[in-house]
Amino acid sequence: MKSVVKIEKGLEGVYFTESKICKVDGTLGRLCYRGYSIEDLAENSTFEEVSYPLLFGVLPKKGELNTFKKDLSDKRALPKEIIKIIEESVNKCDTMHILRTAVSALPLYDKNLDSKTSDKLQDSINLISKVASITATIGRYLYGKKYVAPNKNLGHAENFLYMLNGVLPSKKDSRILDKMMILHAEHSSNASTFSALVTASTLSDIYSAFTSAIGTLKGPLHGEADENALRMMYAIKDANNTENYINNALNKKERIMGFGHRIYKTYDPRARIIRSLLTEMQKSNNTEIKNITEIALAAEKMMIEKLGKSHGIWPNVDFFAGPVYRYINIPIDIFTPLFATGRSPGWCAHIIEYLENNRLIRPLELYEGKTNLHYKKISSR
Ligand code: CMC
Repeated sequence: MKSVVKIEKGLEGVYFTESKICKVDGTLGRLCYRGYSIEDLAENSTFEEVSYPLLFGVLPKKGELNTFKKDLSDKRALPKEIIKIIEESVNKCDTMHILRTAVSALPLYDKNLDSKTSDKLQDSINLISKVASITATIGRYLYGKKYVAPNKNLGHAENFLYMLNGVLPSKKDSRILDKMMILHAEHSSNASTFSALVTASTLSDIYSAFTSAIGTLKGPLHGEADENALRMMYAIKDANNTENYINNALNKKERIMGFGHRIYKTYDPRARIIRSLLTEMQKSNNTEIKNITEIALAAEKMMIEKLGKSHGIWPNVDFFAGPVYRYINIPIDIFTPLFATGRSPGWCAHIIEYLENNRLIRPLELYEGKTNLHYKKISSR
């Protein structure tokens, strides 16, 4: 008799643990980290100040924030071996391969690291800090330039732009990137966070768990969507072509990157905040920026009319991110590593929280293959 098993493909709708880190309300389109709304944090806070409660549970007092910022900035410099990995692999493979390789190599060059005894909070600070430096350095080598040593006097986003471009960034660009990093910092049990937890739940180390998360983020259904959404805007070329292009794609049953979400069946609140930056971008003198902004707005309008209310497919965090990153001159090839850079405190916070009450993650699959076959030697098959 065949047993009756209900399979939730993609674990859709399945709760696997409790968490106090982040609440995503997909019906109302609300998001909060540690109880604070994303709108409040994006408007008033900084990436460092948001990372702190993700890791430690509460907003920092002034002294705590200063210590945390110093800890982050002290860990920014990359070992020469990591710079070499980046230098040798840039333009030979996907930037997410480089990021994943460099992160997994970090423990090789960290004399203080012992995966059995190490302090997960200190490792998290190291990862948050170093992932930003690795991503900026990948971007640097993509431009054919050399490693820029970090500047301890700069904030996290500001230093990222400094290490990418080799010049002090404007306050305006730094603030835009800071906001983008806040918006990407955390998002409950998304695919990459879940995969970090699967690895962590075996009592492996945090670097391995983080590396798993990077591998998962790479996919076009997850972190790579911002890059692909922008590539679509470039392919559309002119806002007047938007309707034709999207209709053709939908007729061919293609997915429009940057739209739709497993949890949000309404406008993603992060996308709404990012969209608000487009008003200023519409006035840009840069033709690339003006053009992709107009295309993004035309595509948004059309997709909402076609699939918004009727199918619950709305813009997600990835749709407007590409034009905004281009506005602050970030190369498209590091968009996904930059997503990982922003998401790093969320991954670390979940790993730490899950391990406080660990249970090996080991779901079941329903076997539907044959049984009772008898092995035949290769000569008689
Ligand atoms: N464009 C066109 N149709 C879509 C899209 C889209 N972007 N997203 C979903 N649909 C359709 C899909 O074809 C399906 O139609 P039908 O029922 O006729 O087969 C229906 O909507 C339900 O789709 P689903 O794949 O069952 O929904 P899901 O909850 O598994 O999908 C998703 C979530 C993000 C994988 C999907 O919306 C998608 O592929 N979006 C494009 C990629 C993207 O933007 N990813 C970034 C997600 S947000 C950031 C992050 O977490 O990384």
